[in-house]
Amino acid sequence: MALGVPRGSILLTAEQIASRVDELARSISRDYAGKDLLLVGVLTGAFVFLADLARALTVPTAIDFLAVSSYGRSTVTSGVVRILKDLDAEVAGRDVLLVEDIVDSGLTLSYLVRLLRERGPGSLRTCVLLDKSECRRVPVALDYVGFTVPNVFVVGYGLDHAGRHRNLPHLWALKGHRDPGEGAP
Ligand code: IMP
Ligand code: MG
Repeated sequence: MALGVPRGSILLTAEQIASRVDELARSISRDYAGKDLLLVGVLTGAFVFLADLARALTVPTAIDFLAVSSYGRSTVTSGVVRILKDLDAEVAGRDVLLVEDIVDSGLTLSYLVRLLRERGPGSLRTCVLLDKSECRRVPVALDYVGFTVPNVFVVGYGLDHAGRHRNLPHLWALKGHRDPGEGAP
């Protein structure tokens, strides 16, 4: 019995992810040398990526999270972004790096960039593990990108489908493209 293993194939192994996360952390540590970084993770999907990234950074780093409404049980974006949990940290004057698991249409990240910019950060950049670049509907500047991925629905390493599979160490592409269909995990 393949308990907890999704119907699909491995897109990126834990080892591939770990080595890319280390590269990203090196770039970020270099770019923020001498600064005091505030990492802002977008819950829930970014929690694994942020945890690994943060531990590989060599600059002083504070961490906070915000939560936005997700796809729910659908694999197609609703285009509606709702803040479910706001930051505890003050953003004004800080060097903020927004950390997201995946950018699809770009609606979520572009909304969050606008929201945080209004709070007057000293600087604001974005870091995403996965870029589904062919799905973009609104432009959003990505400063650090782990991998560009095709238009498939991805789970594992923090990413879910209907709340499941976030705990898987590898990244999986669900069978059935963007529509996992009947009997999917
Ligand atoms: P966007 O607003 O369309 O760019 O969607 C971004 C959000 O949708 C991300 O924060 C993810 O939570 C979710 N999402 C988009 N694509 C996937 C996927 O392939 N797997 C899991 N979640 C996804
Ligand atoms: Mg997300």
